Amino acid sequence: MILKGKHILVGVTGGIAAYKSAVLVRELKKQGAEVKVVMTEMAKKFITPLTMATLSQNPVLVDFFDPENGAWNSHVSLGLWSDMYVIVPATANTIAKMATGVADNLLLTTYLSARCPVMIAPAMDLDMMAHPATQQNIETLRQRGVIIIDPDEGFLASGLSGKGRMAEPESIARAVSDYFCSKEGSLLGRRILITAGPTYEKIDPVRFIGNYSSGKMGYAIADALGWRGATVELVSGPVQVKAKCGNVKVTKVESAVQMRDAATALFPDCDGAVLSAAVADFAPKSVADVKIKRKGDDLKIELAPNPDIAATLGKMKKPSQFLAGFALETNDEMSNAKAKLQAKNLDFIVLNSLQDKGAGFMVDTNKVSIIDVSGAVSDFPLKSKLEVAEDIADKIELLLKD
Ligand code: CTP
Repeated sequence: MILKGKHILVGVTGGIAAYKSAVLVRELKKQGAEVKVVMTEMAKKFITPLTMATLSQNPVLVDFFDPENGAWNSHVSLGLWSDMYVIVPATANTIAKMATGVADNLLLTTYLSARCPVMIAPAMDLDMMAHPATQQNIETLRQRGVIIIDPDEGFLASGLSGKGRMAEPESIARAVSDYFCSKEGSLLGRRILITAGPTYEKIDPVRFIGNYSSGKMGYAIADALGWRGATVELVSGPVQVKAKCGNVKVTKVESAVQMRDAATALFPDCDGAVLSAAVADFAPKSVADVKIKRKGDDLKIELAPNPDIAATLGKMKKPSQFLAGFALETNDEMSNAKAKLQAKNLDFIVLNSLQDKGAGFMVDTNKVSIIDVSGAVSDFPLKSKLEVAEDIADKIELLLKD
C-alpha cells in the first residue's frame, strides 16, 4: 500500500489509449491511493465516465459546473486536493494547450491551478509524436517540471508501428509510486545492501552447480525498503523476478566469488545489509574449458569452499552498520540459527524451517522467526513473502533508529 493516503488526480484526454487509464486507476487504488478523475468531452467518447467513476469510487468531473443544478466544479480546490496530477493519455492537442496555457476545459484549468507535481503519458501516432511542434511542447513542459512518461515503441491504432504508444498503465503507476518514494519515506537517505537469489558455480561452459532459490524473498525485501525511501543496492544471482521499486539498483552476478566482490565493494557506503542469497557453499575446484564428455561410469568433480559473504561482511562491519542474515534449516533450527548469528557477527537472523509447509524456496509464502543478537525471538505466522519483507523492514527501521 505504497500510496496509502495519497490523493491522485487522473486526467483523461480523448485518445484511443484512454481505455488504459481505467487500468491505471485500478493500479493506483490497489496501492492505496484515493483517486479522482477529470475527463475531457472527447475522452468520454473513448471510455465512459461510469467506468472511471466505478473504478475510482468517486464521481467523474467533466464540466465547469453541473448543468442540472449549477453546482460549481472548482478546479482550484481539485488542484489543491491533489498530491499528484497524472494526465493519461496526454494527446498532442492537450500537450499543446498545456504548453501555451489554454484553459478551455476543466482538465486544463485544473492543470493551470494545480500546485502538485504533474505527470503526463503522451500517446499519439508516431508522426504526430515526432513533429517538431509536439517535441517542442513536450520539451517546454519538461523544462517547467512536468514529469514525462515516454511513450513506448510498438503497434499503434493507426496500423503503423513506431514511437507513440502510451506506456503501460503498470509502469505509469510505478512511476507515480517511484516519485513519492524518492521524495519521502521513513528510510529516506539510507542505503542498504541486499544479496538475493542463488549462485551458479561453473563446472564447464554448459553446466553449473546451483540451487532452487527463486530470489523472491530478497527482491521483496529490496522493494519494501525501496518503497520506504531507502536506496537499495541489490546484488542478485540469476533469477526470473524483477525489482518493482525504482529505488532498487540491481547488480547481476553469477558465482559466489562475484557476489562477494560486488557486496564487499558496496558495503562500506551502506548503512547495513540483508543477506538473503542462497550462496553455494562449494564450487568446482577447476572449471573445464570445454564441455565435459560422457566417459566411463562415474565422474568426480572436486569441490573447494566458496567465500562466506556474510562472515566477510561481519568482519568489515562498523558499529554504525547493521548486518542481517537468513538461516534455512531442516533440523535443530533454533540452535543452528543462533550459531550462525554469532559466527557471522549478525545483528539479527531470519530463521525459516523447511519443516514448515509454505516456507522456503519456490513458494510465495514464508513462515519466519526473527532472532535478535540479544537473544530475543519474534515468531511470525505463515504470510506472503511481501508481508514478511515488511516485517523485516520494520525490524531494520527500529535498528537504524537506535
Ligand atoms: N551466506 C553467505 N555466504 C555463504 C553462505 C551463506 O553470505 N557462502 C549467508 C546467507 O546469505 C545467509 C546466511 O549466510 O544469510 C546463512 O546461510 P546458510 O546457507 O544457511 O548458512 P551456511 O553458513 O552456509 O551454513 P550451512 O549451509 O552449513 O547450514
